[in-house]
Amino acid sequence: VSAGELDEQLAPAAALASELAPVLCTPAGEGGAGCAWYHALYPSLRVLGLAATPERHGAFYDEVIGSLARGGAHRRIAVTGAADAGMLAHVLRAYRREGAHPRIDVIDRCATPLRLCADYAARTAADVRTVVSDVLGWTPTERFDLITTHAFIGMFPHAQQPRLAARWRRALRSGGTLVSVARVDPAWTAACPGFSAPQAAAFRDLVAGRVRERGAPADGDERSWAARASAYARRMRSFPFASVEALVTLLADAGLAVDRLDLAHFEGHARADQSGPGTHRPGTFAHFVATAIG
Ligand SMILES: C[S@@+](CC[C@H](N)C(=O)[O-])C[C@H]1O[C@@H](n2cnc3c(N)ncnc32)[C@H](O)[C@@H]1O
Repeated sequence: VSAGELDEQLAPAAALASELAPVLCTPAGEGGAGCAWYHALYPSLRVLGLAATPERHGAFYDEVIGSLARGGAHRRIAVTGAADAGMLAHVLRAYRREGAHPRIDVIDRCATPLRLCADYAARTAADVRTVVSDVLGWTPTERFDLITTHAFIGMFPHAQQPRLAARWRRALRSGGTLVSVARVDPAWTAACPGFSAPQAAAFRDLVAGRVRERGAPADGDERSWAARASAYARRMRSFPFASVEALVTLLADAGLAVDRLDLAHFEGHARADQSGPGTHRPGTFAHFVATAIG
């Protein structure tokens, strides 16, 4: 699935995100350092072909979400966590192909990506509401038929992941569906939850090289893009699952019964030694579908 097919306008979104992030991003965002370093850069990393995106998992999302759209019992949807409009675009595409029109809430703790989602929704005449909330404190007034997101659970430290699963369960109606993907990496260690120093340096050079070859995705010279890549690499962390069993158990303990789980391996646009969390790097992902029970 390409960005073009999804009707996304990546270049304008990248420019808008870098303009809005210094103003809208929450000071208490990622790592307590504000989240502008993340939300300003992510859409630009997409333009440079270096972001981890839902597109890699597009066939899975298309198939599963498309079949829920066809079934007719999943009209109320929540997207929990969205770095830009990419995941929203996947959901809308799957529904529109079936001639179905869902109502979608997009929840994020930061207003910057929500603005990108709101713009996308306005441009594609979709029924979307954006909600600024920490998902761990999110108390929706209605239950959803479907909750979906891309690589979200792995952004939470392992100790917080059961709380996220419990929030998901509470926000779904009984019989509702959770569809997502999560990285599985038995080699991950708490000692290095992000980029190693050599990976950070190589990533900075990779971003600078892409800017040189392709042009800057938004304002700034090559040096400033190298600095943004360094700041990203210094702060970005992820908390993948050690095994498929760990993921299945965590969901089951929250009342989310896994119906389907496929493991998929991907190569990256960046090599493992020049990339880290949130980037288009090699890795193994669990593609999973769970049903809210009880
Ligand atoms: C969905 S995740 C992974 C990004 C992904 N590549 C995507 O497709 O959107 C990224 C988003 O999660 C949001 N986020 C992280 N922790 C959150 C929390 N506790 N509550 C709400 N949003 C959160 C961040 O603000 C960010 O926009």
